[in-house]
Amino acid sequence: MGNCLDSSEKSISSEPSTFNAGSSTTTTASKFSSISSTTTLGLSTGSDFSVSEKCQIAPQGQILEVPNLRIFTFAELRSATRNFKPDSVLGEGGFGTVFKGWLDEKTLAPAKSGAGMVVAVKKLNPESMQGFEEWQSEVNFLGRLSHPNLVKLLGYCLEEKELLLVYEFMAKGSLENHLFRRGAAFDPLSWNLRLKIAIGAARGLAFLHTSEKQIIYRDFKASNILLDTNYNAKLSDFGLAKHGPTGGDSHVTTRVMGTYGYAAPEYVATGHLYVKSDVYGFGVVLLEMLSGQRALDTNRPSGQHNLVDWAKPYLSDRRKLARLMDPRLEGQYPSKGVLHAAQLTLKCLASEPRNRPSMKEVVETLEQIEAIKSRSKDSTKDATAPRHASRRPAQSPVHHRSPLHPKHDGTGSGVRVNHHSPKLR
Ligand SMILES: Nc1ncnc2c1ncn2[C@@H]1O[C@H](COP(=O)(O)OP(=O)(O)OP(=O)(O)O)[C@@H](O)[C@H]1O
Ligand SMILES: [Mg+2]
Repeated sequence: MGNCLDSSEKSISSEPSTFNAGSSTTTTASKFSSISSTTTLGLSTGSDFSVSEKCQIAPQGQILEVPNLRIFTFAELRSATRNFKPDSVLGEGGFGTVFKGWLDEKTLAPAKSGAGMVVAVKKLNPESMQGFEEWQSEVNFLGRLSHPNLVKLLGYCLEEKELLLVYEFMAKGSLENHLFRRGAAFDPLSWNLRLKIAIGAARGLAFLHTSEKQIIYRDFKASNILLDTNYNAKLSDFGLAKHGPTGGDSHVTTRVMGTYGYAAPEYVATGHLYVKSDVYGFGVVLLEMLSGQRALDTNRPSGQHNLVDWAKPYLSDRRKLARLMDPRLEGQYPSKGVLHAAQLTLKCLASEPRNRPSMKEVVETLEQIEAIKSRSKDSTKDATAPRHASRRPAQSPVHHRSPLHPKHDGTGSGVRVNHHSPKLR
């Protein structure tokens, strides 16, 4: 695995990138100048790639020289989503609302609903704090990254104040919904499915971390892990992604952004962002998958709001571990596998970034855990199928929906609250 970066760099960031699939060939740089005279696609700090002249295509992913994206008009996306029909809403996040839409598979022109291919259209909410910069970072990073465990960005729209992104449709929605929502659409995930999802997401992160110019994802959380029909996991949302340190530095220093409960302690405390800060976020998601509990939940008794703080003692005690496990699993898991997963989670959550494993090591360990077969009496059941009928009482999703609050602390960092976990902005 690898990508097509090498040290003989040719910066592509100042070149306007041209789209030529379909009918609306447009130069992205000129498009951007319509919204900002100083910011053009590829010229933003932190998201410029450099590539070698000869780009090797790795079997498990690649970084394209230029974003290969369709530029949509607003009218096209309005038509594809049936005028942003409320009943086609797939979800809502800090950037805005995500709608289901239909496009012609070949031309990517709007298609009749039910015809062509399904896509997800994310539309900026004018009140969002995640504005142009994050939209631009998404286009610059995700538009060039291609990997089976990264969601595919198909194109975008930039018209007046309208900012939209068009993605491949992920039929099973987010991991967050499957872990924490209740209802017919969200059957409990089996142990094997949880492992499959963890491995997929880990491979996605490992790809980013091992690319020659490392990419730190910075917003690893259950809502950013999307699932296709077969529960293949793909990372979405590259709005906060950042290049890793260069010149032998261990970290980059940056404004603190991300989501409370998932962000690594050293990053929140100092603004020092390590590649291993992502590994901490991965550990938090593993813990959510084991326990079925949210990273941050103010509905839990006081002292238990922060999952990592209260669950760590359970992870390190083999006898206590069973009490931590998600009741929706109904005990259907190999105890040896769970023990290894708990140990891995603890390593990912180590206070010192250098004591955390690399994502490559995480992938290898998870694959070993996957090979451990359950010896329980139910091991003959198809453990890859979602589990039905939870005995746990219905639990409504936790929504911390509040206005966005910039934090005036003089450091340039800010806190914002979104619908799930408070965001660091
Ligand atoms: N490509 C997609 N296919 C299917 N559903 C999607 C897709 N992208 C997003 N969604 C749905 O829309 C929801 C909102 O996504 P979005 O990324 O805007 O917000 P979020 O991840 O929940 O929060 P944040 O803004 O903090 O990242 C997701 O949880 C998911 O259910
Ligand atoms: Mg998201």
